[in-house]
Amino acid sequence: MPVEAQACLAALASAFSGSAFLPGAETPARNLQDTSYLPPQMPLAVVRPDTPEGVAEAVRICAQHGVAVVPQGGLTGLAGGAHPIAGAVMLSLERLQGIEDIDPAASTLTVRAGTPLEVIQRAADDAGFFIPLDLGARGSCQIGGNLGTNAGGNRVIRYGMAREMVLGLEYVLPDGTLVTSLNKMIKNNAGYDLKQLFIGSEGTLGVITRAVLRMQPRPGCVNAALCGVDDYADVVSLLGAARRGLGPMLSAFEVMWADYWYEATTTVGVRSPLTGQHRFYVLVEAQGLSDEIDGPRFQGWIEAQFESGLVSDAAISQSMGDVAAFWATRDACSEFGSRLGPHVAFDIGLSAARMDDFAVACRAQLAERVPDAMSVYYGHIGDGNLHLVARSRSAETQPMSQISAAVYETVRDFGGTISAEHGIGLLKKPYLSYSRNPQELALMRRLKAALDPQSILNPGKVFDMRDMA
Ligand code: LAC
Ligand code: ZN
Repeated sequence: MPVEAQACLAALASAFSGSAFLPGAETPARNLQDTSYLPPQMPLAVVRPDTPEGVAEAVRICAQHGVAVVPQGGLTGLAGGAHPIAGAVMLSLERLQGIEDIDPAASTLTVRAGTPLEVIQRAADDAGFFIPLDLGARGSCQIGGNLGTNAGGNRVIRYGMAREMVLGLEYVLPDGTLVTSLNKMIKNNAGYDLKQLFIGSEGTLGVITRAVLRMQPRPGCVNAALCGVDDYADVVSLLGAARRGLGPMLSAFEVMWADYWYEATTTVGVRSPLTGQHRFYVLVEAQGLSDEIDGPRFQGWIEAQFESGLVSDAAISQSMGDVAAFWATRDACSEFGSRLGPHVAFDIGLSAARMDDFAVACRAQLAERVPDAMSVYYGHIGDGNLHLVARSRSAETQPMSQISAAVYETVRDFGGTISAEHGIGLLKKPYLSYSRNPQELALMRRLKAALDPQSILNPGKVFDMRDMA
């Protein structure tokens, strides 16, 4: 072990005691990898501070010794942003938990970074409010990671991405400086909006320790429909009709292609709310104020879509149980990892109008380049965000790079983004230039060099400094 690493370990061991410091050999299994399918890596040590000052102290010690630091949260990221780096210190936020403040007048909730998203959702609900951020991993993901990746999820169409929900942020810079900026005001133009640099930078510019989140009023009612649609042009028309007819109530517009539906209802085994087969299944959700008024309004809207011929069949929710059953068809993808076997998961973005053309082109590229390729398509079409998972049915080891190249080259041809919501991490790093121009990439590198001149914070994630020189 290099002397600097040894000295760093000794300094960490004396600053952190008990379960707050674990040498590499004692790394808990959960910290050895994230959800990216990359092979496990043994770190130098795991540090688990339970205060923002402790996080700052850990980063300062690592910076003094020039040792790399990888922030880790719920480890549910799919791109490898929290994957360990051999020889680096894992800075786990799991013990920095808890809600510090709920301010009803300001409609804010102040929370520590290691708190699971679902705990935050429940606390807001108990107080009569609503946290709009929601995604399949809600039970295990942590808010620090959600903000570090600017998570998207299921209700972006109405409430925006994680970034839109943050009023204040506290973070530790790569030299160990703790910056506390727990603003609660919606309007604050006093100089640069610094928090935006850290939201979505995947732990490469700072480590988020606390956040002030903006809560929304708890919806008075939720209505949903699961629609069978047989032509992609009709899916696009239905999106326009939902925007016009449901207005600000529209809270989700999720589309599942027939290939996805087959895996969800057979391989995963979720019950289908519809009896027939369709080319597309659309989950439309509307959050309203009162069921008496908004229930019939929703019903009327969906009937009009039948009459205009956009929708071939639909199940309309009669209860929250029905709403949950509709969402179960969409959440089924979270079981693809265990049911379909190893695969590559994508979160590309492109114009909603062209998504089926993209799916056709992508299937053709995969068929040409990957033996026994299979792929299924679904996603947040109302946000211009398409998911797909792809794999080889017969390969013993998945040809990850052939699969990725086939998909990302198609994305590039369509002028889309290689990441609409999950981030770049390690897996998408080779393709970043497909979606960002040289000037954008150079500015990213200048920011990284300015804030982290030693390149110790999550190095090699998102981009490599040396490739971009
Ligand atoms: C979803 C996750 C994978 O939308 O982003 O299901
Ligand atoms: Zn998603």
